[in-house]
Parts: sequence; structure tokens; C-alpha cells
Amino acid sequence: MFLTLRNVVKRFGAVTALDDVSLDIAEGEFVCFLGPSGCGKTTLLRVIAGLEAPDAGAILLTGRELAGVSARSRNFGIVFQSYSLFPNMTVARNVAYGLECRAWERAAIAGRVREMLDLVDLADQAHKYPHQLSGGQQQRIALARALAAKPVVLLLDEPLSALDAKVREDLRGEVKDLQSRLSITTIMVTHDQHEAMEVADRIVVMNAGKVAQVGSGADLYARPDDPFVAGFLGRMNKVTAAFAPAAARAAGSFLGVRPEDVEIEPTGTPANGMPVADIEKCVFLGSCTRVTLRIAEDRLLVELRGKRIDLAPGGRVAVRIPDQALHRLPE
Ligand SMILES: Nc1ncnc2c1ncn2[C@@H]1O[C@H](COP(=O)(O)OP(=O)(O)OP(=O)(O)O)[C@@H](O)[C@H]1O
Ligand SMILES: [Mg+2]
Repeated sequence: MFLTLRNVVKRFGAVTALDDVSLDIAEGEFVCFLGPSGCGKTTLLRVIAGLEAPDAGAILLTGRELAGVSARSRNFGIVFQSYSLFPNMTVARNVAYGLECRAWERAAIAGRVREMLDLVDLADQAHKYPHQLSGGQQQRIALARALAAKPVVLLLDEPLSALDAKVREDLRGEVKDLQSRLSITTIMVTHDQHEAMEVADRIVVMNAGKVAQVGSGADLYARPDDPFVAGFLGRMNKVTAAFAPAAARAAGSFLGVRPEDVEIEPTGTPANGMPVADIEKCVFLGSCTRVTLRIAEDRLLVELRGKRIDLAPGGRVAVRIPDQALHRLPE
């Protein structure tokens, strides 16, 4: 295995930020750490980078223990969440800086800087200062800087989160392209499930310092191990007996259904036993309409493709949850 985390523990006082984290990452793989704020994503990345020492456990690169290896000697490229360019240096110097620290030859540095700026398509910005660039351009420079010293691993801590939605979407496509072109082993931290699903070969879902589940986006979405993972990648309704009589028989486990798997029909012709629900809310989101259904105090979120003009709050619909769409998960 290329990069191995073995039973890594990290505590800050009374807080256990990483609680026995183990993980294997293959060479050239693109892995995302996904999880809510405070679950330990940044801490894990910093421990891998060597910026933080674990209290227990080990990190191995191609079988070699990294414990005694300083952050700089690990030669991992890092991009942090907040713009971390040096504000008083030009774009070119920002990219050159790490190479100067590593005592590269002048001519080699100049060539490498040009190559890196071409890579992120910003060669024409070389003489500008960071404040003269857009947020997206700054993060592309940060990426060029992280890649300049030919790192063995690329570590990205929410590199796109400060950007607006459209720029973020474009740039994550670029990050993915770059990563596959260079085949560099990459770990990216994010709390955006769509970002993770778009770029990652495998997603590591984290919860309260622990790894909740690891898999491809498709795997995790189709077969979540528990309600936390189910609710973190997409949405998962808790199905109550009001909406599905089967729920009554699922004692001790969580019965869930994805919003897009719920079917609805007009109340005029409800088939036998189909529960009838009130439409509480209806939101048109472009590619789908999100409808909140209600039976007494129980609610169900439904997503229907496109715009459904026949649905409006105050109306009623019959609800069907196909058996094969039910997820039975441990509570
Ligand atoms: N230097 C530190 N000193 C004390 N506690 C810390 C330190 N760094 C992190 N923590 C705590 O460790 C836990 C994990 O923090 P971490 O920054 O890894 O979370 P995160 O998943 O990156 O969150 P976010 O999505 O908000 O960036 C939190 O409870 C945090 O308060
Ligand atoms: Mg963080």
C-alpha cells in the first residue's frame, strides 16, 4: 500500500480529534475526507502532512514509518483552505519560494515556475500580486505552488470552499483533471458531498473523529452503513408507519428512503392501502421539485423530476414507497 494510516489517535486536551483512524490509500488515488465541521478532517490532514504529531498510531509511506520525518522532508504538497499565498510576493515568487527553500538551481526554478503556471493556465499573471487576482485564480496559484516541488502526495484542505458556487464547480473539474493528468496521490478535505462525489475515487466519511465508512460515492449512496452516512451523502427520510406499514415491523432498525425514490399519485384513485398525505411545502429547484408531505406529525421529503405544476401546498396525494427502495440500517 502507498500510504497507510494505522490506528491514529490525536487528542487536544479533553477533545479526541482523531479516534483510532485506519486507512489505506493506493498510489495515484484521489481520496476525499468528508464530514461535518469539527469531525477531525483538518487534523487528519495535518497529521499526515507532519504538521501535527499523533498521540498514538502510525503513518507509513510505502511501508516506511513517517514518525521521525519532518513535514518538509516528507515533500507533500499542501493547499490550505484560506488563501495562503504570500501577499508581498508576486505570483511567480510564490511558486518559486518552496524551490528556493529546497535549494533548486536558479535556471531550474525559472523553468519549473513557468511550467507550473502553464499547468494552471495563469502564465500571463506571473508578475501580479495575490490581491490583484480573483479568489479562484489565487487558489490555482496555491495549487501550482503545492505541485512545484514534485510532491509525492498532494494534500488539499477545502481548497475551494471560499469561492462562490459557480467558480467552485469549474475549479473542482480542473483539480480533478490536473490530478488524473499527473496521477498524483491526492487527499482533499471537503464538507461538500457533491464536490467529493465528483472528484474522489473513494470517499472517507468521518464522524466525531472516527471513520464512519469508506467507499466510492456510488457505493456510499446506494449502500450506506448507517443513518449518519445515509444523511450525509444525499438525504434519507426516516420512514414511519404512517407512510409505510412495513415500518411497524422494522423494530430496532432505521427504515429509510431517498426522496427521489418515493412515488406519488393523485388521491382520486389510490390503490389499496396507499397512505394519503397533505402537501405541506413545494419548492421548485430547477432540475427537481422538492415536496414536503405530512401525515399527522410525520413528514416525508419527496423529490420529483422537473416542475410539477399540479402540486401545491394544501393539496393531497397518495404515497407509495416501493419495497426495493427501503434501506434497513442499524439505528
Ligand atoms: N490546535 C487545536 N487545539 C485544540 N483543539 C483543536 C485544535 N485543532 C483542532 N481541535 C479540535 O479538534 C476537533 C477537530 O477539529 P478539525 O479542525 O480537525 O475539524 P474539521 O473536520 O476540519 O472541521 P471544519 O470542517 O470546521 O474545518 C475539533 O473539536 C476542534 O475544536
Ligand atoms: Mg477543517
